Amino acid sequence: MAALTERKGLKVPVSGDISSLVPYPPGKPIEELERELGIKGSIKLASNENPLGPSSKAVEAIAGALNNLHRYPDGSCFYLKEKLAGRLGVSSGEIILGNGSNEIIELLIRAYLRRGDEAVMADPSFAVYPIVVKSVGATAVTVPLREMRHDLREMSRAVNKNTRVVFIANPNNPTGTIITSREFEEFMGSVPEECIVCVDEAYFEFVRSKEYPGTLEYVKAGRPVVLLRTFSKVYGLAGLRIGYGVAHPELVDYMNRVRQPFNVNSLAQAAAMAALDDSDHLKRTVENNREGLVYLYGEIAALGFKYVPTEANFFLVKVGDGKKVYEDLLKKGVIVRPMAGYNMPEYIRVSVGLPEENRRFIEALADVARPR
Ligand SMILES: Cc1ncc(COP(=O)(O)O)c(C=O)c1O
Repeated sequence: MAALTERKGLKVPVSGDISSLVPYPPGKPIEELERELGIKGSIKLASNENPLGPSSKAVEAIAGALNNLHRYPDGSCFYLKEKLAGRLGVSSGEIILGNGSNEIIELLIRAYLRRGDEAVMADPSFAVYPIVVKSVGATAVTVPLREMRHDLREMSRAVNKNTRVVFIANPNNPTGTIITSREFEEFMGSVPEECIVCVDEAYFEFVRSKEYPGTLEYVKAGRPVVLLRTFSKVYGLAGLRIGYGVAHPELVDYMNRVRQPFNVNSLAQAAAMAALDDSDHLKRTVENNREGLVYLYGEIAALGFKYVPTEANFFLVKVGDGKKVYEDLLKKGVIVRPMAGYNMPEYIRVSVGLPEENRRFIEALADVARPR
């Protein structure tokens, strides 16, 4: 048998749709940085995770579910759907659970897009949308942000008879900005009935603006809207992979047809049920974020850097050479996200951490970067 290093390329054909894809670059894990640099005590402010950790109620629920790991999970997520449906004022048939909300993006695209179809999205926005769209041979039509916000009028103009889905991340990742209810209403008045609008509210619980749209009402009104939420952010369960979609039962039905039977594992289901009941943990998380942003905005401004005000648990800081600042911060054990891959080379994206993590980031930034 030839050694791995001697292996030649295969003769197996792969479609250009797949060979041209660039994999999603995740935030650098702490363990990877520490392995590379031989250091300890690093902090990660790179993936918009919950710095408080998971809810202790969720952890208890996981412990309670461990002895049943020999059983397949409930493929229909019956109890969790019931609970979410009760909270949201919809029926269980309007809810779909996914292995992270990422999976629901995939189910939506697999159910509704084929070659020749188009999906409209902002640029930059959540990097997973174009990857999933291109993977089925469909076209990702991107519309540049305008002053860091979705340009919904231009996105509406980009919709044509081939458009099956429009993605709106609200708040947007990586900018943290939102669209307003007025803008959304106008947009919804312009999209054809045959087009699905996927509103990704991964950071919904952090939003404070009164202008934030009530997207759920559009689902309840029977519009073809897929509303995405997740347990990865405010609920602190990113490692378990669980998120949900709320949509018209017909959309849910077709997405269910392309779903793996046991896509959400039993520990994730148990933890999500418990996390929904831990309102204290949610409150503390939102409060930590609010206070963290007050501190970070003040310090960043005092250092002379510009930043983009956010409605989420992360924000953009304009640092000049984003890649260099990212690398220099790594050497100090601080992981943030460089933005060159999002066509924003002057920026880094920083997640709000615990107070001591925020302080550590500010001290490191002051050491490695100078405002221009
Ligand atoms: C806008 C947006 N949508 C979806 C996700 C994915 O969340 P999940 O962990 O539920 O797959 C993220 C994660 O960073 C995100 O920023």
